[in-house]
Amino acid sequence: MPENRVARPRRYLVCPPDHFDVRYAINPWMREGVRVDTALAREQWAALVRAYREHGHTVESVEPVPGLPDMVFAANSALVVEGRVFGSSFHAPERRPEAEEYAAWFKAAGFDVHRPVSVCEGEGDLVPVGGFVLAGTGFRTVRAAHHEVQEFLGVPTIGLQLVDPRFYHLDTALFVLDDGAAGGPANIAYHPEAFSPGSREVLRRMFPDAVVATADDALAFGLNSVSDGLHVFVAPAATGLAEQLAGRGYVPVPVDLTEFHKAGGGIKCCTQEIRPAP
Ligand code: ARG
Repeated sequence: MPENRVARPRRYLVCPPDHFDVRYAINPWMREGVRVDTALAREQWAALVRAYREHGHTVESVEPVPGLPDMVFAANSALVVEGRVFGSSFHAPERRPEAEEYAAWFKAAGFDVHRPVSVCEGEGDLVPVGGFVLAGTGFRTVRAAHHEVQEFLGVPTIGLQLVDPRFYHLDTALFVLDDGAAGGPANIAYHPEAFSPGSREVLRRMFPDAVVATADDALAFGLNSVSDGLHVFVAPAATGLAEQLAGRGYVPVPVDLTEFHKAGGGIKCCTQEIRPAP
C-alpha cells in the first residue's frame, strides 16, 4: 500500500538559458555542431520554473553570462546543506568561470562560500539524503573532494563509483525521492548499471526499497529528476519510471527538457536546491 507522501516547499536557484548552446563536447551527449532551438529551450525551461512555482516552490535566478553556454545547469554550481555552501571547481576549463559567477550570487544572497581545492561539480555529483551525502566519482568530481565535503559539512559522505560515461554525473543515474528530513524513511531511485559492482551493493544495502530504473528510463533522463517528497518533476519519456513512481504514491509531473538533453542535462541539472539552516 502506498504511503502518505507529503510535499515540502523548497528553495531553488536556476539560471535562464539566454546563452545556452552546445559549443564544445565534454560528455557523450554533446555533439559539436548540433543545433539548439533557442526559442524551444527557453519555452521548456520556463515551463520547468512554472511547474515549480505552481507546486509551491520558491525559484530564484542568477544572471546568465555570455560565453558560458552550460551555466544553465545550476546544479553543478554548489552543494548547499543547512545553509552552508560548498562551491564548485569544474573539471572542464570551459566551465571553470561559472564557479565565480555562482559564488558571487551566493555571497550577495548572504552566504559564505567554501571554494573547494579539488575538482568538484556540486549537486551533479553530491547528493544529500538521509543524513549522508552520496558522492559520485569516475568522470568529474574526484575522491579528494568527497573528503573535503565531509570535513566542511560534517556529514558522512558515501563514495560511489560511476562506470558508464553516458551517466557521467551522479545526478544522471540517481535522484532522491525522499530526503528523510520530514522524519520518514529516506529513499532514492537509481539505475544500478551506471555503478561499479561494489557501489551497487552499497546502494542496495542503504536503500533496500529503492525504485530501480531501466536503461531506457535512465537514457531518457528519467533519473535527472527533482522530488519534493510528493511531486516528482520528471522527463515525460521516462514512462516506466513514472508508472513505478505512481505505484509508490508519488505524483509524476512531466516536464520536457529535450533541448537540454543535447548538452547532457535535464531537470535536476537545471536546479540547485538551497537547503536552509536548521
Ligand atoms: N554540458 C554539461 C556538462 O557536461 C551538462 C551538465 C549537466 N549537469 C548535471 N548536473 N548533470 O558539464
